[in-house]
Amino acid sequence: MFTTDDLRKKWLEFYKSKAHSIIPSAGVIPDNDPTALFHNSGMHPLVPYLMGEPHPLGKRLANVQKCIRTGDIEEVGDATHLTFFEMLGNWSLGDYFKEEQIAWSFEFLIEVLKLPLEKLACSVFEGDKNSPRDEEAATFWEKAGMPRERIAYLNANENWWAKGETGPCGPDSEMFYWTGDNPAPTNYQDTWKDPRWVEIWNDVFMQFNKTPDGILENLPTQNVDTGMGLERTVAVLNGQQSVYETDAFVPILKKIAELSNNPDLSTDPLGTTPSHYSARIIADHIRSGTVILGDLVSPSNTDQGYILRRLLRRAIRHGRKIGINQDLCLPISEVVIEKLSSHYPDLKKNREFIFEALTIEERQFRQTLEKGEKQFERVIQSCKGTIDGNIAFDLFQTYGFPLEMTVELAEEKELKVDEEGYKKAFEDHQAKSRAGSEKKFQGGLSRENIEEETALHSATHLLLAGLRDILGNHVHQAGSNITSERLRFDFTHPEKVERNLLDKVEAYVNKAIAANVDVLLEEMPKENARAKGVEGSFWEKYPDIVKVYTFKDNTGKIWSSELCGGPHVKNTNEMGQFKIKKEQASSRGVRRIKAVLVKE
Ligand code: ALA
Repeated sequence: MFTTDDLRKKWLEFYKSKAHSIIPSAGVIPDNDPTALFHNSGMHPLVPYLMGEPHPLGKRLANVQKCIRTGDIEEVGDATHLTFFEMLGNWSLGDYFKEEQIAWSFEFLIEVLKLPLEKLACSVFEGDKNSPRDEEAATFWEKAGMPRERIAYLNANENWWAKGETGPCGPDSEMFYWTGDNPAPTNYQDTWKDPRWVEIWNDVFMQFNKTPDGILENLPTQNVDTGMGLERTVAVLNGQQSVYETDAFVPILKKIAELSNNPDLSTDPLGTTPSHYSARIIADHIRSGTVILGDLVSPSNTDQGYILRRLLRRAIRHGRKIGINQDLCLPISEVVIEKLSSHYPDLKKNREFIFEALTIEERQFRQTLEKGEKQFERVIQSCKGTIDGNIAFDLFQTYGFPLEMTVELAEEKELKVDEEGYKKAFEDHQAKSRAGSEKKFQGGLSRENIEEETALHSATHLLLAGLRDILGNHVHQAGSNITSERLRFDFTHPEKVERNLLDKVEAYVNKAIAANVDVLLEEMPKENARAKGVEGSFWEKYPDIVKVYTFKDNTGKIWSSELCGGPHVKNTNEMGQFKIKKEQASSRGVRRIKAVLVKE
């Protein structure tokens, strides 16, 4: 039996032998790509290098990357969909191109993995107005040893790979393995839709950059970007039907079976009862949740924290369905860490953080669930077929029930949810609270008070930037309240911030103030602001054109750049001395700082 460790090792050794530098996996959160919440492929963290920046470790790279894809979250539970998976990848940054890559792909499959040629096929791009039919790739496959009839020409839906709406892209060539019991069909062009052909590897010939105007421009170099799904390939190599039968999942399912006192959930990993579905959902979601937490993201109501919360809450709910009434996140997460930490040491390093966050989230969610489910049962008494949007919003607002959970529970009762009505109730609520806070700001304050408040408001921007600089990019604003006396600022962070760190944050703010920083206001499309890495929580609440306030000193250093409606000081020179008076817990995963500006 092949294990995930075996395949990782074989991959890295193979590429080492082809003079590649082995690079570590990046974390799952992109550093500089506000267009995506998670890294979803091995190339994602390497975009700057594919766009032409030199990589410090050279032009040939390989690794195993942690990836999160949450687009298909509702499909998880079947035999194939996962929200977390590992991608084996190798890259040429303007070094080798199609011929070498195809020859090595063939060599790795046949000589290293020892797959029988009779079960392999590949596809190449058939061509369109953007890029010609890839006869080159087909010729190189044939030269490597692939029979001509096992090479199919397919269209851009199948054989064009792009990072997203914009960015690096190009034609690709995919490899497939026949998983049927009978011999593989000889001709691949006519049979490629047969689901028994399972994709195992994708070689992308990354030559283009797609601009926001939709234009394909040539990248400075011709690159190769490849990706092989680790778990899926191990299953295929073992002749297994599903990733849930591999060593990546067996111990997790075993733990779940033990917690729910139902051995069948692990002895029959592909069972078709609702309980088996639940077990697979729990296994996938806690595995992903653990990996996300391992990169120090806390559960929250926005961005990555929200996805994390959704994964954990869905797992807990399915746990209840299969009779797990004690805490399940932590014991399952222990198994995940045991399994993955030899390759991803951060999981071990951040173990305490992971366990604490899981424990708190689970405790709180169980209480929410109990209350919410009772309320759900009450409200459906009077529903005829569809749950009203306002009711669904109230379940969210008052009981913490995310919309998708209400939808899931409703489906179990054969009810629908008026999702449009929910959206409308949500938007009305936001418009109301915005109007409320604007009114509060304009309301009868003396000129002096307004100046104090403006200065404190500017200080919150520098404070947030300082917190992010010292504590890390998981810190975002969770709330703020300003009087003419002091600022109160809530931010996402899982633990107490010790005084020595608070001193550093304070120093950051005071340095910015002392640098007589100008505060610049720019208006720009929201997407541009995101792409520039402007800080902001609640992006979805802002209009398409946003205001960005940037604190920039005369050396060009940017101390803070944040979405905001203003107003702010014009220059920091009259703000005074910033002092953090107090740091305390606010709510789960959120800390609170009280601070003042002292004028000499
Ligand atoms: N980036 C390519 C993929 O994700 C290899 O399939």
